[in-house]
Amino acid sequence: MKLAGKVSKVLYGGDYNPEQWPRDIWKEDMRLLTFAGIDVLTINVFSWAILQPSEDEYNFSVLDDIVETVSKAGMKICFATGTATHPAWMARKYPEVLRVNTDGSKRKFGDRQNSCPSSKIYRMYSGRLAHKIAERYGKLENIIAWHISNEYGGYCYCDNCQHAFREWLKKRYKTMEALNAAWNTAFWGHTYHDWEDIVSPSFLGGEWSRQPRVSGSCQIQSIDYRRFYSDILLDCFLEEAKVLKEITPYIPVTTNFMGTFWDLDYFKWGKHMDFVCWDNYPWPDCPHTRIAMNHALMRGCGGGQPFSLMEQTPSVTNWQPYNSLKRPGIMRLWSYQALAHGSDTVMFFQMRRSRGCCEKFHGAVIDHCGHENTRVFRETAALGDELKKLGDSFIDSRFNSKAAVLYDWDNWWATTLSAGPTQDMNYPEEVYRYYDALAKQNYSVDIIDVDAPFDNYKILFAPVLYMIKPGYAEKLKTFVNKGGTLITTYFSGMTDENDLVTQEGYPGELRELCGIWVEETDALLPGKDNGFVIKKDPFNQNSDKSIIGAWKAELFCDIIHSEGAEIIANYESDFYAGTPALCRNKFGQGQVWYFGARPEQALLDRFTVLICVECGILPVFPAPEGIEATRRVKDGKEFTFVLNHNKTAAEIVIPASSRDLITDKVFTANERYSLPAAGVLILVKN
Ligand code: GLA
Ligand code: ZN
Repeated sequence: MKLAGKVSKVLYGGDYNPEQWPRDIWKEDMRLLTFAGIDVLTINVFSWAILQPSEDEYNFSVLDDIVETVSKAGMKICFATGTATHPAWMARKYPEVLRVNTDGSKRKFGDRQNSCPSSKIYRMYSGRLAHKIAERYGKLENIIAWHISNEYGGYCYCDNCQHAFREWLKKRYKTMEALNAAWNTAFWGHTYHDWEDIVSPSFLGGEWSRQPRVSGSCQIQSIDYRRFYSDILLDCFLEEAKVLKEITPYIPVTTNFMGTFWDLDYFKWGKHMDFVCWDNYPWPDCPHTRIAMNHALMRGCGGGQPFSLMEQTPSVTNWQPYNSLKRPGIMRLWSYQALAHGSDTVMFFQMRRSRGCCEKFHGAVIDHCGHENTRVFRETAALGDELKKLGDSFIDSRFNSKAAVLYDWDNWWATTLSAGPTQDMNYPEEVYRYYDALAKQNYSVDIIDVDAPFDNYKILFAPVLYMIKPGYAEKLKTFVNKGGTLITTYFSGMTDENDLVTQEGYPGELRELCGIWVEETDALLPGKDNGFVIKKDPFNQNSDKSIIGAWKAELFCDIIHSEGAEIIANYESDFYAGTPALCRNKFGQGQVWYFGARPEQALLDRFTVLICVECGILPVFPAPEGIEATRRVKDGKEFTFVLNHNKTAAEIVIPASSRDLITDKVFTANERYSLPAAGVLILVKN
């Protein structure tokens, strides 16, 4: 089931918290929001305390009135179950619902996502609330989705969680011997003889952490706690989802994701969502390709289906160190960017700005002044008009990317929780370099996990594929064997799923595929770099676009022996000067490239274009700087989104005779057009 079955246009709206306001305001809200073209409201996100004022008492009168008000105004409802904050009485009566911090201190009431997922009381009452809500409101025709809890995340280190962790470990490892072997516990004297001796790794013991510095011995224990915690929070989601599905099998369920968010393995979670939705809060000067990467990742977590932009601020956040305003036009531009990457909704947090508490300075469609004569309201209403006009044109469309980048949460956890080789390893930012090279040159690119089918892709980028879980290597071999091009890098093929280092010589299970052996790895000191020296262009490029020359080699350098791979670049300096730094290996019908060090971005950008040309992949649209283009496809019809992220107008050349869906402007083939700063086109061919 998906959202699209329920919508005939880009849904426009977001979080609405009328329980914070007197009723005369609700009426005015409906007038203003209707005027702004808003047609969907997410309600009931933080209402548990109102719905269940005491243990034996439920009171739905306020929610009934809210539902009636928004329904009468013709709004669709994204209906939250409200379980992200348990009521205060529950914390007092059943302290087990409160989480315990990593330093062992017990939390108190006063935050959200503060409930211990192992608490039977929390589970029982959250399930009961979901049940009551589904029974009471599940017949309403204007519900587009159940929105379970809100932005799951965080950890708890209480005894109940520790118990649940042990049970999770028993399921995974079955025997004590298997756990001891997988965790390599003979190291520093950590052999276990009883499951009861295993602790949740925290700052009190067991945890290895770089920032802040905590020196536990066993990193796989910390990795397993991340896996376990992602799973146990998913259990909470699934428990509510089950209750809802039993009563309303026809309503899709979801919860809001947060892009590259450390706590949860969203690929695993995405498999349980009817559709993925996410909250996009970029910092003010965030590069557009970094935002794009999050969109593509969220699309990938939903298996390539359209997703929903569930939240963004119309103007400003309150929780960043410096909360600059979105400049005029940027909210519109970033809304279209979400659509350009596969969203079928544009939604905000929130509709009306709170008067009190920590989000009182967070932007909203309706500001504290309460009327429509504000810049933000005008921009919101203008976009509302445009979205109405677009109808269902590209709703439920897909991507047809020939390039993909692999992303893997276990790999992120494992490389971050690794003592050595360098503290500057930042997995999402490493992956971003490769995504950026593709995206800024307007190649259509997906972000996928290793479980996704590879068949439609010609190129796979798998940077820093440190951890090789069962089946990974075989799947990559099959892909290359059949003619695929794989690009992988430094710090790949290092360990198995238990973070145990390969004994086959690095890059372990990828060694034969890459045709190399990495003997040692040298971490570079801050500010220092080595170089890739390329004497002959492997792509036979003789122009100034060639990769011939010397390029910076950053972060760390693998010292490589070729075992059949062709050496494309050698290191420039140090005792390993002249040894291989970049290799290409023919394997079956395909080829594998191995970057032994992190290439400076300029080399990667150039390399990416050349490899795409070689594989017959064309960009969606020519790429003047700061112009982003993506393509969604539906029933053979192509929708080409072109967005100008520059601060000034940019001249583009329209490739084919086409029409812009937003303005109906018609373009002839090769027409030159000055796309204004923050301007957007959605081109369809004539
Ligand atoms: C998150 C939450 C919202 C709100 C916004 C503020 O996305 O889901 O409830 O707190 O952040 O940016
Ligand atoms: Zn707990």
